[in-house]
Amino acid sequence: MTDAAAAPGRRPLVVLDKVNKHFGALHVLQDIDLTIGEGEVVVVIGPSGSGKSTLCRTINRLETFESGSITIDGRPLPTEGKELARLRADVGMVFQSFNLFAHKTIRENVTLGPVKVRGVARAEADRRAMELLERVGVAHQADKYPAQLSGGQQQRVAIARSLAMDPKVILFDEPTSALDPEMINEVLDVMTELARSGMTMVVVTHEMGFARRAADRVVFMADGQVVEQATPEEFFTNAQSTRARDFLAKILTH
Ligand SMILES: Nc1ncnc2c1ncn2[C@@H]1O[C@H](COP(=O)(O)OP(=O)(O)OP(=O)(O)O)[C@@H](O)[C@H]1O
Ligand SMILES: [Mg+2]
Repeated sequence: MTDAAAAPGRRPLVVLDKVNKHFGALHVLQDIDLTIGEGEVVVVIGPSGSGKSTLCRTINRLETFESGSITIDGRPLPTEGKELARLRADVGMVFQSFNLFAHKTIRENVTLGPVKVRGVARAEADRRAMELLERVGVAHQADKYPAQLSGGQQQRVAIARSLAMDPKVILFDEPTSALDPEMINEVLDVMTELARSGMTMVVVTHEMGFARRAADRVVFMADGQVVEQATPEEFFTNAQSTRARDFLAKILTH
């Protein structure tokens, strides 16, 4: 396996050290060592069932794990209470299925977390929400409900909602795979802008164009293991493992 360390000069922000997790008999995360540096954009790819979503969910403590350690900014993952709420605020997550609150307006979706969890004043939360909705290009939809927006617009709102919490890192789990093809790029453009702005990001995606354009590093997972990791340039031109090469051959011929 290649070196798990973040790029030299980056402060380690998310550190997984020999993390193991089972679902019953299935050893879904096997001795995962992974360091995400501050400001780094890491794209995670690999076959279906290799553990990519579980990895994200474990970092955000939506899943427990049995051994090893995960630290965010030097602190171990809290297991409950206020500390856990703070972790959730520090570690944003953007899902395939958007997960917006259907009965709240776009603006309310973005202000809810800051007001309830961060204790931000309503007026300030509103101001910031509009700024973020502007940034992702949906400010004019602020008073609509999620169902009135396209999938691409909803996903951009989900990104704005995540940003509103001022997270230290955002985890994206296949953020474009539920979208119609013509909406994929508008979401990837927002994510590319975010990457350039210095946000720390872990992105599970099959969008290899995004990986080439925005990733500092590609992590390839198979069967619950990190099989190899490299810069996009190295990975796409010179993958070392047979499993990575087979995987690339399959997806790149699509
Ligand atoms: N809650 C669960 N209970 C039992 N098994 C699970 C659970 N969640 C995931 N698994 C299994 O763990 C393995 C890894 O799943 P995971 O969703 O992390 O894979 P993935 O790499 O994200 O796959 P995909 O590309 O299809 O999204 C799979 O075999 C899956 O069936
Ligand atoms: Mg998945």
